Amino acid sequence: MNNPKRYLITSALPYANGLKHIGHLAGAYIPADIYTRYLRVQKRDVLFVCGSDEHGTAIPIQAMKEGTTPQAIIDKYHPIIEQNFFDLGISFDIYHRTSAPIHHKTAQDFFEHLNNNGDLEIKESEQYFDEEAKIFLADRFIKGTCPNCKYENAFGDQCEKCGKSLSPEELINPISTLSGKPPVKKITKHWYLPLNRHEDFLREWVLNNHKDDWRPNVVGSVKSWIDAGLQPRAVTRDLDWGVKLPLKNENSKVLYVWFDAPIGYISATKQWALNNQKDWQPYWFDKETKLVHFIGKDNIVFHAIIFPVMLKLHSNILPENVVSNEFMNLEGDKMSTSRGWSIEMDEYINDWIKKENGGDAFADVLRYYLTAIAPESKDSEFTWKGFQDANNSELVSILGNYVNRTFVLMHKLCAGKVPPFHNELIDDIDKQLIVDIGNAKQKVEHLLEVYKFREAQFEVIDLARKANQYMQKKEPWILAKNLTENSNNQKLIDNCIHLCLQLTANLAILINPFLPFTAQKMLQMMKVVDRMLEWKNAGKINLLKVGYSLREPQLLFRKIEDEEIEFQIQKLNEKSKKVEEAKNTNTEVETKNTTLKPIIQFDDFAKIDLRIGTIITAEKVEKADKLLKLEVDLGFEKRTIVSGIALHYKPEEIIGKQVTVVCNLAPRKMRGIESNGMILMAEDTTGKLYFVNPDSVIDNGSTVS
Ligand code: 2FM
Ligand code: ZN
Repeated sequence: MNNPKRYLITSALPYANGLKHIGHLAGAYIPADIYTRYLRVQKRDVLFVCGSDEHGTAIPIQAMKEGTTPQAIIDKYHPIIEQNFFDLGISFDIYHRTSAPIHHKTAQDFFEHLNNNGDLEIKESEQYFDEEAKIFLADRFIKGTCPNCKYENAFGDQCEKCGKSLSPEELINPISTLSGKPPVKKITKHWYLPLNRHEDFLREWVLNNHKDDWRPNVVGSVKSWIDAGLQPRAVTRDLDWGVKLPLKNENSKVLYVWFDAPIGYISATKQWALNNQKDWQPYWFDKETKLVHFIGKDNIVFHAIIFPVMLKLHSNILPENVVSNEFMNLEGDKMSTSRGWSIEMDEYINDWIKKENGGDAFADVLRYYLTAIAPESKDSEFTWKGFQDANNSELVSILGNYVNRTFVLMHKLCAGKVPPFHNELIDDIDKQLIVDIGNAKQKVEHLLEVYKFREAQFEVIDLARKANQYMQKKEPWILAKNLTENSNNQKLIDNCIHLCLQLTANLAILINPFLPFTAQKMLQMMKVVDRMLEWKNAGKINLLKVGYSLREPQLLFRKIEDEEIEFQIQKLNEKSKKVEEAKNTNTEVETKNTTLKPIIQFDDFAKIDLRIGTIITAEKVEKADKLLKLEVDLGFEKRTIVSGIALHYKPEEIIGKQVTVVCNLAPRKMRGIESNGMILMAEDTTGKLYFVNPDSVIDNGSTVS
């Protein structure tokens, strides 16, 4: 689509179930940000949306791991991820969240629209059900032996050992992770999106219309899905975490996360429009919108098949492109947070950006390296050595060095001002440089328009490389040694520095979409405002006015030392070792924590008399390492209770603490002492114990129910 009225750029909504690593950043966020920043300085109407994906089983599973609620998980990770993106210069117009009511409503309306139009099918099928927990089990809640590699703890959707995608039916000896019991098959009803009805459309749209302008990995994935035969795909789930089905009597079902998540792009647009008194509808209904999705490789099918089918049935627009990278590995292995083989954005920000003044240069260093090695057509690899080289040999030695030399020479040889250009002395070297500036603009522009970010960035650095060579050929510092009245040397110096400065201004414009923090610093040094960064200025050589005085240079980048890199490599190795060790020691505890006890009726629970009491004395029990003898004031009486907490608390620490006591437990003798009740304790996954007590002091004897 040439000259669309508006652009809508989306980056995949990351799950708010944990920190995100730099592989994520390289895939769906940096390229989208470069593209958006480029469109903005082109003065096009562009909206860049993203947000947290807060549904799906990933969230409750993380909640179980952290011993908390799904809501607490999303509330913890959403703001961290948002801040991380901000610190790395990802310039979303809105970073929304799918837990927002406006999203729930939008997703429900979308579902209703399709359902009312007969675009969904309802089918009954057998699914695994946990008879003790009384719920249908999401694939992730079923474990069993992998049919492929025989790993005994494979999940119902994937084996983490060999990586094979699985369905729960394929697992050998499946068990529910909730009850630890084998699940049974039970009939349930679900709504399906019949992808098979849309095969002709998808063939024509992707495999014909977009076979040349979409990346081969995306077209290839779509082709293999279509060739394998498109099947109806369930868009609902038996779960309680997610967007509730907008249908009466279907309270126990939610929309499948992959149905609601991309609708998050729409609800984010709505929220942005509300915040800015704009109309959201043209973005999703007007054919003049150019919609471009930036995603990670594992999201291709959802953005190139499923969501487009949903959009075709609902709105008027389809994505113009779905831009996906291949995988980025890390130091010879697959990047993975769960294996500790990753560099989290948060970690990078703490180690490099927050550590020193001017650390935001390191946001650009990361952006630069991730773009330079972007796996646009095949997998690539992040290495700390490569990161150091990219910084030291390209950013410091080429770009930073060039800008610095230009400014230093301008202050030294041209009185800190933009010198005039003496046309009569122009030579072929000058002319070539002017041509190079114009060409660089054309090339970068073309490459960005076709989503070739890696090559585009290369062209900018290549221009800086040529600029260094130009200065090297002109040698103004040699000319400065002979400034006699009869020589043209000062004029020749002027011409060289004049062009070098104009080129610096061009570099700021061209580098801005890639390295926005650096571009800002360059603007500062040139004492010009943001407007200069408009793309239409690129290629011009009259951007800085003759006679204009400029600031002192500041270093754009600093050298990275070998020790800093060795430290990071060591840290990575240690992190993954720790994670592996923790996994091995926690297996038992984890199983215990994720396995629920059998269901009881309320009456069973009501038999337990729980009261609040205060510990008034505490002493060690002789010859029993683990036991403390406590006297607890229950208001109506004082009790002696023996508790197994001596390894966790010293007697003197707990006197005066309020605790929850099971009062009607039959008395029990421990080491000769009669214990009349039990103190409730919470235990985390490492086995540490905590008191369970009211959030402020209340009367002893208060009941707990
Ligand atoms: O893979 C993921 O991290 C998903 N949360 C991506 C969703 S993208 C979009 F559909 F929202
Ligand atoms: Zn396996």
